[in-house]
Amino acid sequence: MRGRYFLAGVPLVVAGAVFVAWLAAPNSGPETPLETRAGWPERADIGGGFELVDHTGRTVTDRDFLGRFRLIYFGYTSCPDVCPTTLQRMTLALNRLNGDEVRQLQPLFISIDPERDTPEVMASYVENFHPRLIGLTGSPEQVAKAAKAYRLYYSAVEKEGDDHYLMDHTSFVYLISPDGDLLELMPDETTPVEMAATIREAVARAP
Ligand code: NI
Repeated sequence: MRGRYFLAGVPLVVAGAVFVAWLAAPNSGPETPLETRAGWPERADIGGGFELVDHTGRTVTDRDFLGRFRLIYFGYTSCPDVCPTTLQRMTLALNRLNGDEVRQLQPLFISIDPERDTPEVMASYVENFHPRLIGLTGSPEQVAKAAKAYRLYYSAVEKEGDDHYLMDHTSFVYLISPDGDLLELMPDETTPVEMAATIREAVARAP
């Protein structure tokens, strides 16, 4: 445990730098025209299919959530700061919505640390947050595919054989439409009030 909290800022700085470098990097594949809008990835490039395992051990795909808005955050349960803070912000935002709005929305927490985040670990972790939150994990390959679809960077740091390593990862809350299109990317500065307003507006616009 020693050093874990001290080190907490390091991966965030590294992740930020890597993310900026990634945004600035020339683009390789034809499927990834990396234009940026106000420094963010073009929204049409983000989202898409995944197959993962939920916190009850059931295999799920993105198609299981079609027809509902999705509020998605990628992170890991051992994260000392940003992930629990973000999930708390999501919970506070959801608490501001009415029952009808909440029913149209599926909050998802997708682990980028599948080695430690088994379905059992995810099950006890999601209990700390909104009752509708579903935790998703899977094999390292399944997680890598999901992260790639959402243009998410993640990497283990300080991994020296013990179980206390940290993960670098980009940190956005994704609001996805019932059809699976990206509607909003919400950065860490987004308050629960702002997040709730964004969700409410999107739900109100839905047919
Ligand atoms: Ni985190």
